[in-house]
Amino acid sequence: MKIQKSLFGTMPDGAAVEQFTLSNGNGVVCQLLNYGVRIASLRVPDAKGNPADVVVGFDHLDGYLQNDYISAVCGRVANRIGGAKFSLDGKTIKVSANEGENQLHGGKCGFDKKIWRAEAGQIGVEFACVSPDGEEGFPGNLNVKVIVALTDADELRLDFTAITDKPTPVNLTSHAYFNLAGRGNVLDHELMLAADFYTPVDSHLLPTGEIKSVRGTGLDFTTPKAIGSQMKKFPEIVSGYDHNFVVNGGGKSPVLAARVREPISGRIMETWTTQPGVQLYTANHFDGFAGRGGARCEKFGGFCLETQHFPDSVNHPGFPSVILRPGETYRQTCIYKFIHERL
Ligand code: GLA
Repeated sequence: MKIQKSLFGTMPDGAAVEQFTLSNGNGVVCQLLNYGVRIASLRVPDAKGNPADVVVGFDHLDGYLQNDYISAVCGRVANRIGGAKFSLDGKTIKVSANEGENQLHGGKCGFDKKIWRAEAGQIGVEFACVSPDGEEGFPGNLNVKVIVALTDADELRLDFTAITDKPTPVNLTSHAYFNLAGRGNVLDHELMLAADFYTPVDSHLLPTGEIKSVRGTGLDFTTPKAIGSQMKKFPEIVSGYDHNFVVNGGGKSPVLAARVREPISGRIMETWTTQPGVQLYTANHFDGFAGRGGARCEKFGGFCLETQHFPDSVNHPGFPSVILRPGETYRQTCIYKFIHERL
């Protein structure tokens, strides 16, 4: 594995945005930015050896400044906090609201908008940042590290850790947008989700607190199905997926949460996680903005598999807790593994 460092761009305040290019011996090449720990590019060969970029991204920093969360790490608390408030140890904590009355992906200036300290190591790049006490309303100084590694087994592995000096919620995720064809939309991609249950939401995409079976709904991907075929069949999903699934058998070591196959190229991506949930998001808000090489990023032009704790866990005592306390270490691992099918 080789790593090269270069300058990607300059932030409006003059801060340098560094780019790290990781390449393994199998032709997989990944570009990471220290602006939001973004996966800016991930070139993966298909069965015939033809490479394509399988993540949505931009050639220039401007694209990332103009389009939120694209292929970045989200935090301190990914997804939504209802009413931008919650109670912790008997106190009400008010955090910044950036989606109506709710908070989305850590607030106005979430971890996706930070310049992280970055250092290349033997296996990948270590990114670090400090989120100060009170940032976006969250209590405690939070020290966060994300190690992004590219292995010879064609895995992109993200290991997250965090420590705090006051109790605080932590829920980090990778918001990478994938498209295994490298172009067009993802409606023909075949998806398997190892999830028998999901967390239903209200009209503001806030969980109701229920955990329901996927059986008989458009959310049943327990056997592989083309993403678009389910949208057609189930009218309630016609505008796309934005749903949190409960990963079967989630635990301390990574389990398989999802497998996606693109039928024409034969590229397959597996997602492995230690987290209890995975948010499937099908780029429902993409409106034709210009992506890499000027290509239009249209609705359904990518899919995200955001491995994480359930949305709005801070307001649902029945969901696994996201509270980190002093002396504890938050740890989670997300692996995107690529397989080239023989065609
Ligand atoms: C997540 C959310 C979506 C949307 C995107 C942002 O996937 O669940 O509702 O906000 O992030 O691009």
